[in-house]
Amino acid sequence: MADGSSGARPKLVVASANPDKVKELVALLGQRYEVIARPDDAPETIEDQDSLEGNAIKKAIEIAEFTGCSALADDTGLFVEALDGRPGVYSARYAGEDASYDDNVTKLLGELEAAGAVDVEDRRAEFRTVVALINPDGTGVTGEGSIQGTIVAERRGDGGFGYDPVFQPDEGEGRTFAQMPTDDKHELSHRGRALVALEQGLQRL
Ligand code: IMP
Repeated sequence: MADGSSGARPKLVVASANPDKVKELVALLGQRYEVIARPDDAPETIEDQDSLEGNAIKKAIEIAEFTGCSALADDTGLFVEALDGRPGVYSARYAGEDASYDDNVTKLLGELEAAGAVDVEDRRAEFRTVVALINPDGTGVTGEGSIQGTIVAERRGDGGFGYDPVFQPDEGEGRTFAQMPTDDKHELSHRGRALVALEQGLQRL
């Protein structure tokens, strides 16, 4: 791992170009690592793998090769039971290539309604994240985290991003992710848990 100098926090380039996720990763990792933002001139990774792990590893490899530093990438999907796991790996572009978060949420609520998934128990969903840390020499480690919950019928809350206004985690005291203070979301979230798993993997190396 590229850890700069003795005693210094190891350097990690965050491969994601999504500012919302970078903010979360910095909050979650900033104590342990010197987190460096993805350089503006880094090539955009085409997320064409059919698994979260495949996409996370691909993104991290490309940034590690480009920067010569260790790189961290994550890929997340929302897997909705009543929709056979959709939007899943395609969560970012569920409502189309240039879909906004709001477009995706509208499509999700519409599909659930069309599927007749009205009762809470028919609206089960899981957020899953895979985080990959790849070193310039090609070695690396991954971690996976998930959280179970339901998709609520109407948006609630202004925090977070993506599907947060309609995802109510089972462990969230009835709040959607968007209704939680950031720290509460981080404690519970799929991404936070994936990072814990990654840390454990790093310690085993
Ligand atoms: P990505 O491929 O990891 O960027 O995630 C795909 C999509 O999932 C994003 O565009 C968001 O819409 C959604 N997403 C990822 N993480 C979260 C989260 O923590 N809360 C809500 N939505 C998320």
